[in-house]
Amino acid sequence: MLGRRIESSSYCKGKQLKLLITGGAGFIGSSMIRQCLARMPYHILNIDKLTYASSSKSLKEFESNLNYQFSCTDINDQRSLRTLFTNFKPTVVVHFAAETHVDRSITRASDFVQSNIVGTFSLLETASAYFSDLSAEEKQHFRFLHISTDEVYGDLGSDGYFLETSPLAPNSPYSATKASSDLLVNAWYRTYGLPIIITHCSNNYGPYQFPEKLIPLMILNALENKALPVYGKGLNIRDWIYVEDHTNALLRILERGRIGQTYNIGANSEHSNLEIVYNICDLIDSLVPHPEQISRRSLVKFVQDRPGHDFRYAIDNTKVRTEFDWQPNESFSSGLAKTIKWYMENADGWCRHILDQSQSKTIFKNREMKDSDVYSNEHSHEQTQ
Ligand code: NAD
Ligand code: TYD
Repeated sequence: MLGRRIESSSYCKGKQLKLLITGGAGFIGSSMIRQCLARMPYHILNIDKLTYASSSKSLKEFESNLNYQFSCTDINDQRSLRTLFTNFKPTVVVHFAAETHVDRSITRASDFVQSNIVGTFSLLETASAYFSDLSAEEKQHFRFLHISTDEVYGDLGSDGYFLETSPLAPNSPYSATKASSDLLVNAWYRTYGLPIIITHCSNNYGPYQFPEKLIPLMILNALENKALPVYGKGLNIRDWIYVEDHTNALLRILERGRIGQTYNIGANSEHSNLEIVYNICDLIDSLVPHPEQISRRSLVKFVQDRPGHDFRYAIDNTKVRTEFDWQPNESFSSGLAKTIKWYMENADGWCRHILDQSQSKTIFKNREMKDSDVYSNEHSHEQTQ
């Protein structure tokens, strides 16, 4: 697809950028908001439904910031979305809101279809109605930045990389709903002229990630000397990026990205799951030795593999590096050390709060579930504790 480059010097020159961010109470969205508010002159409206994966505490420091507003709204609620768009008058929409955990998508795909596909449709409908009423000059500046994942490309063998031109070939219910949302976003560009940009990033890690994803789960379990459940043989490979490096790239794309384009974001940092878990064990052993002086590597438990488990993801980041002169600031070892330090410092605060809160939300949800819906993944975690 061809795109139009808007130079940063001319992009919204002299104006305060108004960012409507969906899913900003989650892991990556909250990092984006922290970075934007540190870099004036952004004004932000965060629209988030506050699912189990989010916490109002993640952005507590900005509660009294005049450049920050929050609305607890489901993106499926078009009537509320319309009011929020009309009152806030965004220059840019950054769409993070989604259900994001692959294991949950395997046991309960309906939430993923509803938020990731129907929710994106609802947001696109509202954004394009709002866009069509803008003046010609306002239309020039408007962007709809859709945050997607490298998982839409399926998986790789031992060789090769995902390119922006790689075909969509999702394997999990999560990645299938994200690929579906990408197709909707592209259709709104081609059919209605909505000025969209899509990004596909690799696995993120860093502070404020809900501890059901590999890295924070392993850190907290290792700190508590609990079992570390590794799926299959732990040989699956992911390409890891520190979350602030991702949101840094997004800010550049927002300022200088070409309309209609897709950008793959990754930090050239491939590691097998077992390598990561052992790394975490060794770092934590060096910081807080196990009470019985044993290596935490002995806590690893190989558990039943995830159904349809993608083998390897790897991003070719040439386009984003060359077009924006972007590169990650963190190496995997510096990013992992920072992340472990953050979880150690926040184990009794943010982590305890989000886990307690999510447990009450999950208990409420489980009451609505049939026996056949029960989580196999939850079982594998229970078995190992
Ligand atoms: P997250 O699960 O931490 O946060 C998602 C946020 O979306 C939560 O705050 C949740 O409350 C909100 N949300 C979910 N459904 C909603 C709805 N219907 N209405 C309003 N809000 C809703 O996820 P994350 O890791 O921060 O991921 C953010 C985005 O980035 C997602 O779109 C994801 O697909 C994409 N992504 C994530 C990664 C990763 O490694 N985490 C990698 C690439 C892309
Ligand atoms: P995850 O963090 O769920 O991200 P994704 O599935 O989106 O890549 O998982 C990362 C990898 O770690 C993936 O290959 C599955 C594996 N994994 C485990 O081995 N044990 C676990 O407890 C979890 C949550 C993940």
